[in-house]
Parts: sequence; structure tokens; C-alpha cells
Amino acid sequence: MALIAVTKESRAGETRVAATPETVKKLIAAGFAVTVEAGAGLAASYQDGDYEAAGASLAKTAKAAVEKADILFKVRAPADAEIAALKSGAIVVAMLNPYQEKAALEALAAKGASAFAMEFVPRITRAQVMDVLSSQANLAGYRAVIEAAEAFGKAMPMMMTAAGTVAAAKVFIMGVGVAGLQAIATARRLGAVVTATDVRPATKEQVESLGAKFLAVEDEEFKNAQTAGGYAKEMSVEYQAKQAALVSSHIAKQDIVITTALIPGRPAPKLVSAEQVASMRPGSILVDLAIEQGGNVVGAKLGEVVVTANGAKILGVPNLPGRIAVDASALYARNLFAFAGLFLNKEGAFAPDFEDEILKAALVTQGGAIVHPSLKA
Ligand code: NAI
Repeated sequence: MALIAVTKESRAGETRVAATPETVKKLIAAGFAVTVEAGAGLAASYQDGDYEAAGASLAKTAKAAVEKADILFKVRAPADAEIAALKSGAIVVAMLNPYQEKAALEALAAKGASAFAMEFVPRITRAQVMDVLSSQANLAGYRAVIEAAEAFGKAMPMMMTAAGTVAAAKVFIMGVGVAGLQAIATARRLGAVVTATDVRPATKEQVESLGAKFLAVEDEEFKNAQTAGGYAKEMSVEYQAKQAALVSSHIAKQDIVITTALIPGRPAPKLVSAEQVASMRPGSILVDLAIEQGGNVVGAKLGEVVVTANGAKILGVPNLPGRIAVDASALYARNLFAFAGLFLNKEGAFAPDFEDEILKAALVTQGGAIVHPSLKA
């Protein structure tokens, strides 16, 4: 019987956990054994006793959990000491952030681990239930609006009171993937007047169906800006200039701007210039969801609230899903439970088929080397 280890996340501020009592129970029913490091779920309000009640054994330390495990479940890349404790050939499943965290990949390769980067799970129907980018981005989009509302000195909805009318906030969402769509929906629920932009034409209808207004340069390049995988392409300098001109006058009138634009494997595109930030009214809020990939807003700083000369605030909140850790863990853990199903054969025995389309796409290290085509030097 294959043993899955779940350990506490070691990265500062990482509150999520890779398995919940619910998924431990399901993993055990599927034929795995599970060992959980004591306290692994505490930051996300999951108690040791509940993991035990679900059938997990508790390990006192990460090392004790990892050293016998066939599979290690993590949210982020394992710590060096965890990698050192792995059995040779063990499987590691995590959001490895493979383009940016090469050192962890090299250490995993050197240890002979078969490591899977959940970010690389392909967006095919069969893998939707394993899509960590979607599950986490959805919550990040929601949370970004909550952060903005908290920092904003005015109300989101229009309110008519005896003392006069409070205007509805104007919210502009830049980048309408999974996070952006949830941000639109959340801002609308709070009563804001919402507009949104994206380079992928398919988003126009999605934006409008959520009751928001769409704003973009709709030229030939825009019509071809979506890859077969559903992602955005990097846009030309010319397109970006046209888009910037279009959105400039718009941004100046907004109360809140939330940016979520990403291009897989590339630094985040810069969508809001220093001049555009400077054009906003005092008290305006920008939330940069792409801050961990370099940021969409010029002047945004990771982990900081930057107050600009004109009195706008740029929020560079890292790890927004970690601010809603109970739900983010629950969804992520379900993604990993579904992924772990791929390690079992038809008879339910532990026999990962490394030729499976999904496993093959997500495998980043194996047999002592970095094996993913997009990561080889
Ligand atoms: P993402 O996180 O890679 O990027 C966020 C958004 O930024 C995207 O909508 C992208 O078009 C936009 N963007 C990039 N450059 C931009 C620029 N210069 N200006 C404005 N916007 C820009 O995207 P995410 O959230 O992963 O979604 C990508 C697509 O994949 C969506 O269509 C989504 O619905 C689809 N999807 C498909 C799934 C499936 O078929 N299983 C599962 C999840 C998402």
C-alpha cells in the first residue's frame, strides 16, 4: 500500500495545507495510507485529531512523515530538509512554480524524485477536477475584491440615505481569466459598477454575462490572441500601446483597479503605468494579483501597500488564496485527491502510468534529471 505524507508548509505566510480530513478519508478509501505531520493543517483550521479520525497516522516531524513515504503532497515546493529525507524515486506533488523556482527542481532531480508540478496539468476535460490554477485563482479573485473593499475609504454599493446618496464604487478588472471573472462577480455582488478588459476575445461575452461592461482594442491581433490551450499570447508592443491609450482615460475615473493578467511561462505584462496610477483620485485602490509573477502595475511591491504621491494605494498582497486558507486548502486538497487517482491502476493498485497524458504533462523531474521539455536548458 502506497504511503502519502502531508507536511506543514514551511514558507513564510503559507497557511494552506495539501490534504484535509475529508480528502484523507477519501485517499484511504481509495487504497492509500496517509501520514500527516502534527500541526500541518492548523494554519487552515484543520485539527490533528480530525486527520486521525479520518484514518491518518500522525508524525511528530516532517522528516518522520517524509522518510517512509512513497508520495509527498505539498502546497509549495518541499523544504530542503524534506527533499533530503525523501526516499529515492519518491513522488512529489505540489505547486512547484517551476519557471521561477529552479533550485527546488534541481534538488528534487538530484534526489531522484518523480516530481509533478500541478501548474502543468493540462486543461483537458478529464483534468478539470485537478486544475489547481483554477481552484486557487477563483478564490484569489474573490479575495482581491475583499482586500480592495477593506482598504477603500468609501462604500461599494450605492446607498440612498436621509443624509444624502453614497455613490457606487467604480471597479475595473484587467485580465478576465478565472480570477478576473470571480473578481467581477464579487464586485458586482457588493454593488459596484464594474468594467473589465482582456486580450482574449472570448472574454467579452463572459464579462457581459456577469453584468459588467467590456473595454478593449478589438483589432486583428485581439481576434487571434488566444492559444489553443485557452491562454493569452504575449501581445505586441504596438497592441499594448493602443490598449494603454484606450484604458488611460478610463483608469483615471476608477475607484478600484484589480489586475490579474498572466501569460504562462512569461513575466506578467505591465498593464498600468506610473502615469495611469498618478491619474487616479486620492483614496483609489489598485490590487495587483500578478505581483508574484512580477506584477501588472508599475510601482507595485510584493508584500507592501505602496501609497503614491497622489494618494492612491497599490496593494501587492502575496498569496491571496492563503488569506482564505480553509476553502483554498479544501479545493486544493480535492485537486490532489483526484490527481492521486492517476497513480492507481484499474485494479486499484499503486502503479503510476507515467505515459498517462496528464502525468506526462505535469512530470518535471524523474530519474535524476529535469525532464519537462519547457524547463530543459
Ligand atoms: P491566466 O491566469 O493565465 O491569465 C489571466 C488573464 O489575463 C487571462 O484571461 C489572459 O487572457 C489575461 N491577459 C494576459 N495578457 C493580458 C493583457 N496584456 N491585457 C489584458 N489581459 C491579459 O488565465 P486563466 O485564469 O488561467 O484562464 C485562461 C483561460 O483558460 C480562460 O479562458 C479560462 O476560462 C480557461 N480555463 C479552461 C479550463 C479548462 O478547459 N479545463 C480550466 C480553467 C480555465
